[in-house]
Parts: sequence; structure tokens; C-alpha cells
Amino acid sequence: MAIIKANAYGHGLVRVAQALDVADAFGVVGLEEAVTLRESGCDRRIVLLEGLFSADDIALVSGYRLDLVVHSDHQLALLEQGRLTRPVDVWLKIDTGMHRLGFAPDRLGAVLARLRALPLTGDVRFMTHFACADEADSDSTPGQIAAFQAALDGHAGERSLANSAAVLAWPAAHADWVRPGIMLYGAAPVVARSAEQLELLPVMTLCSELIAVADRQRGDAIGYGGDWTCPQEMKIGVAAIGYGDGYPRHAPGGTPVLVNGQSAALAGRVSMDMVCIDLRNHPGARVGDEVILWGDGLPVDTIAAAAGTISYELLSGVSSRVRYTYR
Ligand SMILES: Cc1ncc(COP(=O)(O)O)c(C=O)c1O
Repeated sequence: MAIIKANAYGHGLVRVAQALDVADAFGVVGLEEAVTLRESGCDRRIVLLEGLFSADDIALVSGYRLDLVVHSDHQLALLEQGRLTRPVDVWLKIDTGMHRLGFAPDRLGAVLARLRALPLTGDVRFMTHFACADEADSDSTPGQIAAFQAALDGHAGERSLANSAAVLAWPAAHADWVRPGIMLYGAAPVVARSAEQLELLPVMTLCSELIAVADRQRGDAIGYGGDWTCPQEMKIGVAAIGYGDGYPRHAPGGTPVLVNGQSAALAGRVSMDMVCIDLRNHPGARVGDEVILWGDGLPVDTIAAAAGTISYELLSGVSSRVRYTYR
């Protein structure tokens, strides 16, 4: 199940689904995304990973042939009151230790009985989600796997546990369906190993260009707050990208960028529409030169670490004003 929620982690829902046509299913969260996907011609299984939000969703779930995760009594009640018009396949979510969504393992029998009493429940599958699959030496994941197996002892039905980190690091969790998200986009899901070490290639390259290049003097303060000052006479470039595009405002001076494919660094604070760049190693840089913010040659994980966040947030946060080109 390819996880393509949040506009395919910022990469474009429909285009990514088309590129991942070999997937057996797609996982999304918003009903709008599921409907868009179906209307784009996608005939694969589409799973609503957080299930129903309200009774109003039921008609669309039926009409668009969507699978539902069911994770709460509230959702069971919605199904009991609602009017499904065709059988719907259900992924029953069990909370094996993340304590976010899902039924406690000891409730499985009662929940299944309620589900199966509904006239239009189709196949029932079982899933859980890991809290710490990205930590290779954590006890948490083996504990969750054991809890899942114990809860399902004696129950028939396909099973799904693994996100990207578990696909890579926890083979015991592969079961019937894996649910990779971030690895599909070429970012590293595990703490200890880089995307390059994992042989994951970046799918998205976020780029812009220099719109100004100026000579500055030693001591000149650059950008808002003026808290980055030129240590010497030097060139400062300005690239047309900022937090209004989804580039993280918290990326500090020194965060790497590529100018014409060569290493450079941010100088001063990120603005809404611009970043300033230390061009000391780029004496020939000119207006129009390419600036890569992350992607090809510059891992998004590096920028995420510099900005105190994770690749997921950066990729899914690329804003709607950024123009997408697909190759
Ligand atoms: C239920 C579920 N499965 C799978 C994934 C994919 O996770 P990842 O992007 O870490 O592979 C997510 C994402 O958060 C998720 O919510």
C-alpha cells in the first residue's frame, strides 16, 4: 500500500499515483484526496487511513468504492447508523502501544462482533502502526509486533504493520501488506542511516534561481533582524524562495544550498519570498543561476536537521504557489 496522503507528501497526489501504478493499494487521509484519486481514473484499492470523520462521509465511501480504517467506537457507531450502499472492506486498527488511534487488543472480539453484525461489512483486515520503528535498538517495535500477533491469534484476515522504517529495519513486521510512505519519496525513514546509505533517491528537487547578486562590505548585516553580518567583503545572492513556498523559516544561516550544483550556504534569516546566500565560493555567480534548496545533490534530511524538523514536514509543506514540473 503506497502511502500518498498529504498530496503524496507534497509531490502531487495524482501524478504520484500514476507513477506508482504497481501498488496494490493507495493510502490517503482526506476523503477529498480519495475522491480526486478515483476521479482521476485510479482503479486500485484506496484506503482512508483515518476512516470516517462524519456520517456524511458514508455515501461517498460507498459511491467511490473506498476502504475504511476503523479505529474507534465513534466510527463503529457512525457505521451502525449510516447507510452504506455496497459492501465496504475494513481495516481494523489495533493499538499495540503507540496510544494514538486504534482499539485496545482485548477489545478485538467485541469490535469484530459489532463489525460483522453490520449488513455491508466486506473483508476485514487488521493493522497497527509503530511508534518507534525508526529506532533499530528500541524494544518498542518487537513489543508491538508481539502484541499484534497475540491479539490476532485465532483470527483469520490479512495483516499490515510496517511503515517505511519497518519495511527497512523490521522484516518480522512485513506480514501481508506493507505501508511505505517517506521511502517512496527518497528520504531516510531511520535515524541511523542516510538516504544515500539506504540507496534511496530523492524524488523532489526544490529549486529556484538567483534574482540578485550584490557586493557587500565586511560588517554589513543581511536580512531581517540583521543578525548575520558579512565577515569580509563578499558577494551575497538572493534566491526567490522562502517560507511562503514551504522552505523552513527556522533554517539558520549556514544551512547548505547548491548554487549551480556547488555548495553554498544561507546567510541570515529566511523571509517569506527570499533567502540570502553567502556566495564567497561562487565569485562568478549571476542573476538567473540555479539554486537548489533540497533534492538532487542535497538531501532533504540535511535541511530538515538544520531546521530542527523532519523531511516529512518539509516535503508535505511545499506550498501551492510552487510550480511543479514532472520528468
Ligand atoms: C497508518 C500509516 N501507515 C503508514 C504510514 C507511512 O509512514 P512512513 O512515511 O513513515 O513510511 C503512515 C504515515 O504516517 C501512516 O499514518
